[in-house]
Amino acid sequence: MKTAVYPGSFDPITLGHLDVIQRAAQMFDELTVSVLDNKAKNALFSVEERVSILKEVTKDIPNVKVDSFNGLLIDYAREKDIHISVRGLRAITDFEYELQIAQTNRKLSNGALDTIFLTTSLEYAYLSSSGVKEIAAFGGDISQCVPEYVAKLVYDKFEQSKR
Ligand code: PNS
Repeated sequence: MKTAVYPGSFDPITLGHLDVIQRAAQMFDELTVSVLDNKAKNALFSVEERVSILKEVTKDIPNVKVDSFNGLLIDYAREKDIHISVRGLRAITDFEYELQIAQTNRKLSNGALDTIFLTTSLEYAYLSSSGVKEIAAFGGDISQCVPEYVAKLVYDKFEQSKR
């Protein structure tokens, strides 16, 4: 069985992430979307919330599983017997960072974990989770950036934080 992991923060998932998930799911028998449980990052959504959101927005893609992980991706991948990591590339600005992660993972895993990149569809090339949060924090329209279900949750979060 061909399997892959799509790791990330997904805080929150954008339409760009969803596009990568849909396309990668067609390339593998099973795609695990896994949320990094990074306590150091000041996230808008908890890991449990992000997992639940990802499950909701991918519920119609049968070969997508959602999970979370702590620590190194190579350790998680080894535990799950996954040998491919999928990452999206929006622009040349992503490349240096992504190249470094991919090469580090390949070296640290002695070749057991390789990375494939999917170039983000052009209509989503400008999207980022941090951009979405900034727009929403100032009451802007994020309906073109995230799935409708997610937009409501993002606005709710910012409303709660004002109370
Ligand atoms: O969505 P993000 O925040 O750009 O995702 C980054 C992620 C989760 C892919 C990356 O930070 C990661 O894999 N972190 C786990 C720790 C790790 O394995 N580090 C070694 C590679 S530098």
